[in-house]
Amino acid sequence: MKFFIDTANLDQIREAHGLGILDGVTTNPSLMAKEGIKGEQAILKHYQDICTIVDGPVSAEVLSIDFDSIVAEGEKPAALASNIVVKVPMIKDGIRAIKWFTDQGIKTNCTLVFSAGQAILAAKAGATYVSPFIGRIDDSNWDGVDLIHQIVQIYRIQGFETEVLAASIRNALHIVRCAEAGADVCTCPLPSILGLLKHPLTDLGLAQFLADAKNMA
Ligand code: E4P
Repeated sequence: MKFFIDTANLDQIREAHGLGILDGVTTNPSLMAKEGIKGEQAILKHYQDICTIVDGPVSAEVLSIDFDSIVAEGEKPAALASNIVVKVPMIKDGIRAIKWFTDQGIKTNCTLVFSAGQAILAAKAGATYVSPFIGRIDDSNWDGVDLIHQIVQIYRIQGFETEVLAASIRNALHIVRCAEAGADVCTCPLPSILGLLKHPLTDLGLAQFLADAKNMA
C-alpha cells in the first residue's frame, strides 16, 4: 500500500518525506485555505513548491463544478509538473471531465466518493484514483472501511485499473484496516502516520534496553 500525506503544509510534507516512506500528496480546498493560499497564481506556485519536495503523485483539486471550467482549471496544474494529478469531484460534469483528462493522458483523482456505485462510475471514466472518504462515513454511523472492502472487491472482479485511495483517514487504526482491506493507497494526516509508530511495550522495552546498556559501558 502506498502512503500519501493529506496536507498542504510544506513542513509536514518535508517531515513525512524525510521518513523515506512517502509516495505522494493529496490536497483539497480546505487544506489549501488552512495554509492561507489565495488566488490562482499562489495556488499554482504552492503546487510547484510541493512538487519540488515530492516526486510521486500530487493531487491538485479543482474548484470548478461545470465541465468547461473543470477542464480549463485542471489543465493549468497538470502543465506544471508531470506528477500532478487533477482531483475532480464526483459529480456529473466531474465524470465527463475525468473521461476527458483520461483521453488526454492526464491523471485524475475522483474525490468525495461515498458509495460503490460512485466508485464504479469513476473507474468507467478512467480515473487513476478513486477517493472514498472513510472518516466522514464513520461520522455518519457507517463503517467506512467496509466501503473500501466493497470497492476493492468490485474492481478486482471487473478488472478495473483505478487505484483505491482511502481518504479522510483519522487515525493509525484506519491505516491498518485499509491495508487489510486491500486499499492501493492511504492518504493520511501526519499524526495518523506517526501514530503507526506507537506501542507502549516498544517504549518500555527501549527504556529497559537503554538502562541495561549503561552497564555495558
Ligand atoms: C482526500 O483526498 C481529502 O483531502 C481528505 O482525506 C478529506 O479528509 P477529511 O474528511 O478529514 O477532511
